[in-house]
Amino acid sequence: MARAKTQDIKVSELVRAQAKSELKRLAAEIAAHDALYYGEDAPVLSDAEYDRLRLRNEEIESRFPDLIRGDSPSKRVGLRPSGPFGKITHKVPMLSLGNGFDDADIRDFEDRVRKFLGLKKNSPLEFTSEPKIDGLSIAITYENGEMVRAATRGDGMIGENVTANVATLGDVPKRVEGEGFPEIFEIRGEIYMAHADFQELNSQLEASGNKVFANPRNAAAGSLRQKNPEITASRRLKFFAYSWGEVTRLPSNTQMGVIEAFAEWGFPVNPHTHLNNNAEELLVSYREIEERRSSLGYDIDGVVYKVNRLDYQERLGFVSRSPRWAIAHKFPAEKAISVLTDIEIQVGRTGALTPVAKLEPVTVGGVVVQNATLHNEDEIARKDVRIGDSVVVQRAGDVIPQIVEVLLENRRKNSKPFVFPTICPACGSHASREIHPSTGKADAVRRCSGGLICPAQAVERLKHFVSRNAFDIDGLGAKQIATFFEAGEILKPGDIFTLERGDRDSASPLSTREGWGETSARNLFGAIQARRRIELDRFIYALGIRHIGETNARLLAKTYGSFGAFQDAVLTARDTESDAYEEIMNIDGVGEVMVGALIDFFDEPHNREALDSLLAEVEVLDFKSNEQETEISGKTIVFTGTLEMMTRSEAKAQAERFGAKVSGSVSKKTDYVVAGPGAGSKLKKAESLGVAVLSEAEWIALVDKIG
Ligand code: IVH
Repeated sequence: MARAKTQDIKVSELVRAQAKSELKRLAAEIAAHDALYYGEDAPVLSDAEYDRLRLRNEEIESRFPDLIRGDSPSKRVGLRPSGPFGKITHKVPMLSLGNGFDDADIRDFEDRVRKFLGLKKNSPLEFTSEPKIDGLSIAITYENGEMVRAATRGDGMIGENVTANVATLGDVPKRVEGEGFPEIFEIRGEIYMAHADFQELNSQLEASGNKVFANPRNAAAGSLRQKNPEITASRRLKFFAYSWGEVTRLPSNTQMGVIEAFAEWGFPVNPHTHLNNNAEELLVSYREIEERRSSLGYDIDGVVYKVNRLDYQERLGFVSRSPRWAIAHKFPAEKAISVLTDIEIQVGRTGALTPVAKLEPVTVGGVVVQNATLHNEDEIARKDVRIGDSVVVQRAGDVIPQIVEVLLENRRKNSKPFVFPTICPACGSHASREIHPSTGKADAVRRCSGGLICPAQAVERLKHFVSRNAFDIDGLGAKQIATFFEAGEILKPGDIFTLERGDRDSASPLSTREGWGETSARNLFGAIQARRRIELDRFIYALGIRHIGETNARLLAKTYGSFGAFQDAVLTARDTESDAYEEIMNIDGVGEVMVGALIDFFDEPHNREALDSLLAEVEVLDFKSNEQETEISGKTIVFTGTLEMMTRSEAKAQAERFGAKVSGSVSKKTDYVVAGPGAGSKLKKAESLGVAVLSEAEWIALVDKIG
């Protein structure tokens, strides 16, 4: 029997080594998809597929918490804000929700909550259930009843200041009257656009020759991020309140009680919000909401369940990016049938050849679809997808759709299996699949070997360089980069910063070209000028070094502080005997593959040249951390014996919330052992090694002091 691939093995059956390699694979894969989704606006996975990757990652992490990586996707949410709006730091981070896909996931959710809180099966535990609105989340702060601020989620820590725009929404009170309203109250909820308003907006846009929005969510986001609030005002955006951030006082000690107070204060709350007593009742609510879905008049993509008691919510806390006390039960993705007219091979920044299915236009869940992802060569072979086939297309959210299956009964007699090219379509270089050194298996991705001579790779690298989470230059997007590249004016990153100088002596200055005018040219040069100073983490990320996504770039920036120190460290680390090598390998989350990629990058003379010409133009700012240090951050803690005030998971979660690591065994590296009654060998070992031992009460006192 063939051995199952690690990625197909159930989480509950993974052994430690497999879990470790899976976490590594998932971190890289999710980071790559994040970059596509957030950086390039060109996602290739459906929401459902992407969520499944994240879910698997989270499940493995909860089985093997000590294997959680420094670059774990569970430590990140959403995108960093950029653009014309000011920034607002969220006092309470705006996090995301974990997902469930089937009934079993929801029963597991109830079990997990009970176990964490130490509640027996028959002790009461209420949950709320409510529709998951497909819009964008917003935090609106009131001071003494007056609306003073509104911010988008952004990356969860820092959002965009959209106060003027939110103030135009009829659904959002500018003033809340009434005695009982707290001094400071940050209300959170979803801004969305109703179907009818969406259709009307698109007809108007079409009639005036403008681009239409693909779906109500994009329309809501586009309408909110308008520089001119009058445009936002004309778009009839709506709002549902469902949560809160910074508050001086809460009006109730239950989720439902707070929602009822929201309604009394004049905020719209979703009428399909119910109280349920267990997973079975939640599932009944789910089916009811699913049945109503098509008649609601706005998009929803699932049902959200939340533990009702707020003291329980507090105790349950968060597991990196999402609360333990809530879960989103997602609806299945929408499907349709179409014909595959062609398979196009696109070449990415790292030379990856990616197949894209070209389809006869078909409407899936209200959106016209013409392209779908085929992932890679093996996937095409596995599904035996052939040009001319009838295929089932699936789409969830606004991510690029995917081909689920081929309808073999419709296959034409003369169809032939698709032959994946072994030559790069952009530069003609040989394209091959790397063999993984430790597994001996061929990589799923076929890569062009043309490197710097491949124009497709060069253009993609430049697109990455200017993308949202990298240099983020207003007015210089993927389209403009491609045009400047074709004209030979931007061939490497440094050229962006000499564009204006070249333009002054040019026979055809930018302002005289098609699609450009005096103002837009001036704005572009201004935007480039503004980016001559850049944060170290963004700069490292922008270089587009393989395996160095945003998280890793940040790790490196944090470790080395300045670009000079970082570059010196990598150059010295070429000697694997050096201290520099040991130091870089010691960074939590950095491994051999990454270090290899960094060394390769700096070893390549063309890269060094490109880097030198770039550094002659830009100033890289030293890294400034905004993370809060606590007395236990970075410390290693071991819990042993019986804890009486809380469950072991709760204690562990508490420790992690304040930046400590929790380990299962005592060693010289352990900073504290928290010992309850019945502690045995671990306590003895701690004593013999001279490790500090705390009682449960002492531990609680320590945590209270920090929190
Ligand atoms: S509660 C701590 N309730 O879903 C998390 N979120 O996937 C609090 N969303 O960022 C969120 N409807 O934008 C909550 N009824 C609802 C929601 C909802 C939509 C969105 C929200 C959030 C995302 C998470």
